[in-house]
Amino acid sequence: MEKISRTKITDLLKSDAFGTTVNVKGWVRTRRGSKQINFIALNDGSTIHNLQIVVDIEKFGEDFLKPITTGACISVNGTLTASQGSGQKVEIQASEIEIYGTADPATYPLQKKGHSMEFLREIAHLRPRTNTFGAVFRIRHNMAIAIHKFFHERGFFYFHTPIITASDCEGAGQMFQVTTLNLYDLKKDENGSIVYDNDFFGKQASLTVSGQLEGELAAMALGAIYTFGPTFRAENSNTPRHLAEFWMIEPEVAFYEIEENMQLAEDFIKYCLQWALDNCMDDIQFLNDMFDKELINRIKFVLADKFVRLPYTEGIRILEEAVAKGRKFEFPIFWGADLAAEHERYLVEEHFKRPVILTDYPKEIKSFYMKQNDDKKTVRAMDVLFPKIGEIIGGSQREEDYEKLRTRAKEMGVPDKDIWWYLDTRRFGTAPHSGFGLGFERLLLFVTGMSNIRDVIPFPRTPKNAEF
Ligand code: 4AD
Ligand code: MG
Repeated sequence: MEKISRTKITDLLKSDAFGTTVNVKGWVRTRRGSKQINFIALNDGSTIHNLQIVVDIEKFGEDFLKPITTGACISVNGTLTASQGSGQKVEIQASEIEIYGTADPATYPLQKKGHSMEFLREIAHLRPRTNTFGAVFRIRHNMAIAIHKFFHERGFFYFHTPIITASDCEGAGQMFQVTTLNLYDLKKDENGSIVYDNDFFGKQASLTVSGQLEGELAAMALGAIYTFGPTFRAENSNTPRHLAEFWMIEPEVAFYEIEENMQLAEDFIKYCLQWALDNCMDDIQFLNDMFDKELINRIKFVLADKFVRLPYTEGIRILEEAVAKGRKFEFPIFWGADLAAEHERYLVEEHFKRPVILTDYPKEIKSFYMKQNDDKKTVRAMDVLFPKIGEIIGGSQREEDYEKLRTRAKEMGVPDKDIWWYLDTRRFGTAPHSGFGLGFERLLLFVTGMSNIRDVIPFPRTPKNAEF
């Protein structure tokens, strides 16, 4: 076969260089046609759209074409022509075809008919080849780019925080331990506690639940930073919104108070959503048509209005009022309760009909590092609540007072010896500062309209599931 450099399908579909000979490579979605002529729908992942390859059967022979079935990988040389058929602008009249790899229809699991999302999760190694997951993963990439652009353009520095850590940032005891100790022969002290002296790090270590604590160290030097990396939580919640391994973006800004932090969060999410509309419309349109006819409207709707800013206490009052008027919730609502997704969604979808930033939560249900309000009951927390998702961002202004922070950490069972270095930022040149964490997959749920978080990350990690 003549060697011609490859053109991506996304570029060919925009081309009008009719008559030129080109090469395309990709995976066969379908092959159909008559005794004389076949049409191969080829996809190379560069776009949701397939390229039509027109094949003269006599020229290639039935036997040669036989293994070109759904899933096979081929390289095609041919002439770019204006398409006669409807549905596409260009097609390729094949002159040479090389078969790279076949996919036996008897065993290849991805035949052309629609598959359930549950089934596709069982073949997560192949699901990127479907239209749906191609779209989702292209959008995922684009959102990552948008995030870096947003912060870079505003002078934030991308700061890499460690993945292995000895401190539990959220203090929720949901960490995966990292050890090289022989689990069959653990040394224990007289109290029955495991002795870590001989472990790799000489102390108990885990996978991080958040890069925030180290991010704060950086913000107190570089001014404004963000992290973007994997985080791990051993929370045994088998819900469509929780992963054991998820990606989080955590900006942290010196001199920001909670109001500026809220504005940053709102601007940030809106920038990402606008980016998706501007750069991923083919994929979003596909997902809109396939799964969720309201997807595009919902994205535009969030872009249109200012997010509501609402103190927790007000939120509880609204929810209690709803209950009094007969609205039923599964979980009880009272001042001091942590909101369930159903409560968050009530406020956003039914009451305000736009995203809500809920602030000033009771200190008992939030982490030790949040700035304490003068009322001694609440902290300067801010959760951004979204339609369909519930909490998409969690953040706060940070407690900058050394004694207050240290006392609160102690009360919440975070020992000095684990966070002495974090406390040092409040001993040396402390300053007001704030930050938040956006769950990357929660953002993707919103942008793609997928209903399960397992379907917006390539290889989900959830309870009892670490395949692939
Ligand atoms: O509210 P969280 O726990 O906040 C923090 O971790 C802070 N350290 C952030 C900060 O202030 N720098 O988590 C932040 C966000 C949540 O709002 C949610 O979007 C996402 O992370 N998240 C999860 N996403 C998927 N699976 C899970 N198990 C998640 N837990 C939290
Ligand atoms: Mg939270």
